[in-house]
Amino acid sequence: MVAVGLFSWLAETPVYRDLHLDAARLAHPTAPGEQWIDVGCGPGLITRDAARRGYDARGIDRSPRMIAEATRLANRHRSPARFEVGDARHLTPVSADVVFAASLLYVVPDPAETAAVLWNAVRPGGALIVVETTAAMTPAAVRQLDTRTWSGRDRRAVSLWALARQGRALDPTTFPALSQAETAYHPLLSGLVGAWVFRQPGSASDSGGGARE
Ligand SMILES: C[S@@+](CC[C@H](N)C(=O)[O-])C[C@H]1O[C@@H](n2cnc3c(N)ncnc32)[C@H](O)[C@@H]1O
Repeated sequence: MVAVGLFSWLAETPVYRDLHLDAARLAHPTAPGEQWIDVGCGPGLITRDAARRGYDARGIDRSPRMIAEATRLANRHRSPARFEVGDARHLTPVSADVVFAASLLYVVPDPAETAAVLWNAVRPGGALIVVETTAAMTPAAVRQLDTRTWSGRDRRAVSLWALARQGRALDPTTFPALSQAETAYHPLLSGLVGAWVFRQPGSASDSGGGARE
């Protein structure tokens, strides 16, 4: 229950929300109905955003409580985003245009294996977007940031995040499944957070005209 409240609160803070929305915009432009899955979606901020942008958006989370909260928020925002309980390590076969995973790989016990599952869920020409804190995310680094435009909630959110991570970070480009992929790295929040875009080679037609699950 704490996690549900915490991540709902975080998603409402402008700094946390905006950096995730920025990361989500690294996906290629949307054609109506393209499929987006947000794995480890938490309360569903990015799933709702993808649905608003015209994607066929689905959030997946292992926690039934998170999914209940994400569904409640989607109803409140009149969002067509859909949510379901599921495990990132055992996704049902899918061929998504975009797979998005924010702060997921750090919390699973087997990040390299989970990354391989996420990567296999991306259709040819599609993208996997991974968002994680970097080794720079420490309380000391947060104190150095220019936070003049931040609200008190923003400061508390990022301080809490840094306290939880203490510079512990993973580098998804080291995972075997992703190490050879075409990759673009985008630093966010002065490099305390990173967004990696991994692109599958090919185009939608390689998968039979953009085959859907
Ligand atoms: C740190 S939260 C991040 C939530 C959201 N993506 C965000 O960035 O605010 C991690 C989320 O991953 C979910 N999660 C953890 N392990 C998972 C797994 N194996 N499969 C699916 N979801 C998982 C948790 O329930 C939690 O909602």
